[in-house]
Amino acid sequence: MIRPTDYEFLTQLLRQTSGLALGEGREYLVESRLVPVAARLGLPGIAELVARIRATLDRDLVRAVGEAMATHESSFFRDEAPFTLLRDRILPELVAARRPSRRLRIWCAAASSGQEPYSVSMILDEMQLAAAGWTLEILATDFSAPALDRARRGVYTDFEVQRGLSRSVLERCLVRDEGGWRIRDAIRRPVVFRELNLMEPFGVVGTFDLVLCRNVLIYFDIPTKRDVLGRLAGTIAADGYLVLGAAETALGLTERLERVPETTANIFRRSGAAAPRAAAS
Ligand SMILES: C[S@@+](CC[C@H](N)C(=O)[O-])C[C@H]1O[C@@H](n2cnc3c(N)ncnc32)[C@H](O)[C@@H]1O
Repeated sequence: MIRPTDYEFLTQLLRQTSGLALGEGREYLVESRLVPVAARLGLPGIAELVARIRATLDRDLVRAVGEAMATHESSFFRDEAPFTLLRDRILPELVAARRPSRRLRIWCAAASSGQEPYSVSMILDEMQLAAAGWTLEILATDFSAPALDRARRGVYTDFEVQRGLSRSVLERCLVRDEGGWRIRDAIRRPVVFRELNLMEPFGVVGTFDLVLCRNVLIYFDIPTKRDVLGRLAGTIAADGYLVLGAAETALGLTERLERVPETTANIFRRSGAAAPRAAAS
């Protein structure tokens, strides 16, 4: 059994370092996720793991604890609705507005094992922008190094590709590989992977036409959601968009963002912003 003082310590540590708001009564979850972390270090249990963290404040150890507690679940075109909207409206509007620079910057801020950034890349591929000379960048970040390693490898099982990919998209965008299905180079090319913890300053990431931050804020408490959303708002172009997960919202959390009307998915833009205007050709 985990001791109440150890649970309290881990709750605070996780809130501060990874944003995860555990709340009360999740001892079983902490035990099931952290006993294997302790075992990997040759420690008998969670009490000894907590003692090691208290004594050393070792960054790698704190990170391993955050990673073990995080949920990395993802799938291609997850929830469908936001991707339909991206394909049918948001991306065509942005492309029309960016015609003079022929450049699009997109950020997937909790990319996990890569299905989300690759789904966006598959839509851009369908729009044939690279062939038309566009510069495309999809920055895919996550605080989990193992998740990013998987994403970089870009190899998925039969089960993973069956979740969300039609046969025609599968054959256009992935190729059969010994280990399963591998993302084709054309889909991988625009995607740049980088470790980034949303709890820390973003550093110099620049401005994005589109930011996806999906299914991560749901694990954070309200002050943390406010802080992250406020900082995300600062990275979006004046006519850009932020896509949140199906159970997430920015409403009531920041004045800097407003929901895009007439959309069924959780899509936001900077307050008072207008939709992208097609550039004169
Ligand atoms: C449930 S997955 C969501 C993946 C993808 N966005 C989707 O919707 O399918 C949540 C991801 O957020 C990452 N994550 C959790 N806390 C984070 C933080 N503080 N900074 C960056 N990434 C974080 C986890 O490592 C995990 O890969």
